[in-house]
Amino acid sequence: MNTKELSATQAGNVSFGNEITVHRLGYGAMRLTGDGIWGPPKDRKAALAVLRRAVELGVNFIDTADSYGPFVSEELIAEALFPYPADLVIATKGGWERPGPSQWTHNASASQLRKAVEGSLKRLRLHRIDVYQLHIPDPVVSFEASVETLAELKREGKIRMVALSNVTQEHIERARRVVPIVSVQNRYSFADREWDYVVNYCEHNGIVFIPWFPLGAGRVAGEILNQVAQAHQASKTQVALAWLLRRSPVMLPIPGTSSIEHLEQNVAAASLRLAEDEYTRLAGVPELIGTR
Ligand SMILES: NC(=O)c1ccc[n+]([C@@H]2O[C@H](COP(=O)([O-])OP(=O)(O)OC[C@H]3O[C@@H](n4cnc5c(N)ncnc54)[C@H](OP(=O)(O)O)[C@@H]3O)[C@@H](O)[C@H]2O)c1
Repeated sequence: MNTKELSATQAGNVSFGNEITVHRLGYGAMRLTGDGIWGPPKDRKAALAVLRRAVELGVNFIDTADSYGPFVSEELIAEALFPYPADLVIATKGGWERPGPSQWTHNASASQLRKAVEGSLKRLRLHRIDVYQLHIPDPVVSFEASVETLAELKREGKIRMVALSNVTQEHIERARRVVPIVSVQNRYSFADREWDYVVNYCEHNGIVFIPWFPLGAGRVAGEILNQVAQAHQASKTQVALAWLLRRSPVMLPIPGTSSIEHLEQNVAAASLRLAEDEYTRLAGVPELIGTR
C-alpha cells in the first residue's frame, strides 16, 4: 500500500451545502471519553495528542456530540485545538442525552435543543457551530418542531448549517421542507447496508453522508476482506474505509479511535484505491451473509 503521503487530503474533498469544503476522511471523537462513552478519558494527555495528530495529518472534519461524555468530547476538542485552524470544521449534535454509561434518552424538544446548542457553543468556544446535527428524531416530539428549532437557531446565527442523524429518507425530505439539510449521519459500512437507499438519495441531492460505526468498532471481519487486505498489504480496517470512500463521492467516513497508531492507519486508508472487482466482491458481502 502506498503510504508515501500520510494525509487525509488523499481522500479528496466533499462540500457541505456548497459552502464549506473538507477532506473526505474525518475523525469521530466519541471514543475519546471514558468507557461506555462516559466520563473523562483514562489518559487525558493521550486523548489530546490524538486530536492534535489528526489535524496534523490533514483531518479537517471532526464529529462530536454534547452527549459524548457527556460534554467531555467537546471539551477535549477545544482544549486540544483552540484556537482552531481556519479550515477546521467541527460538527456536533444534540437531542439525545447520556444519563449514564452506555445509556441514551431522547430529548429533542425546542427548549432542550436551544440549551444544547448554547452549551456546545460554550464548550467548543465558538460563536457559531458550522454543522449542527439533530442526533436522532425524538419519538415524543414532533420531528418538524425539532427541525424548526434548529432552523431558528440558524437564523439567529448560532448554527451555520443544519444536519440530521439516524434518519430515514422520509425524515430528510420532511426536514428539507423546513431548512436545507447538508449532511446525514447513519450507521453504515460495506457489511452493514441498511441505509444504502439513503446514501443514494444523499448523493443524488448533494447531501454529505457520514457513516458511523464504519469499522464495526474495529471488528470488521471476513474472508473476502482478508483477501483484499492481503492483496494490498493493508489492514482490514483500511480496506473497509477504502470501500466507503469508493462507494460515493458524498461519503465522509469518521473512524473513531483513542490511539495515534490506529489514527495513522486509518488516515493511510485515504491513499488506498480498490480495484473494481475488489469493490464489487466486498459490496456483495451482505448478500452472502443473508444466504447463510
Ligand atoms: N450519530 C450517531 O448516532 C453515532 C453513533 C455512533 C458513533 N457516531 C460517530 O461515529 C464515529 C465512529 O463510530 P464508532 O466509534 O462507533 O465506530 P468505528 O469508527 O467503527 O470504531 C471505532 C472503534 O474501532 C477501533 N479502531 C479504530 N481504528 C482502528 C484500527 N485502525 N484498527 C483497529 N481498531 C480500530 C477503536 O478502538 P481504539 O480506540 O482502540 O483504536 C474504536 O473502539 C464516532 O466517533 C462518533 O463520532 C455517531
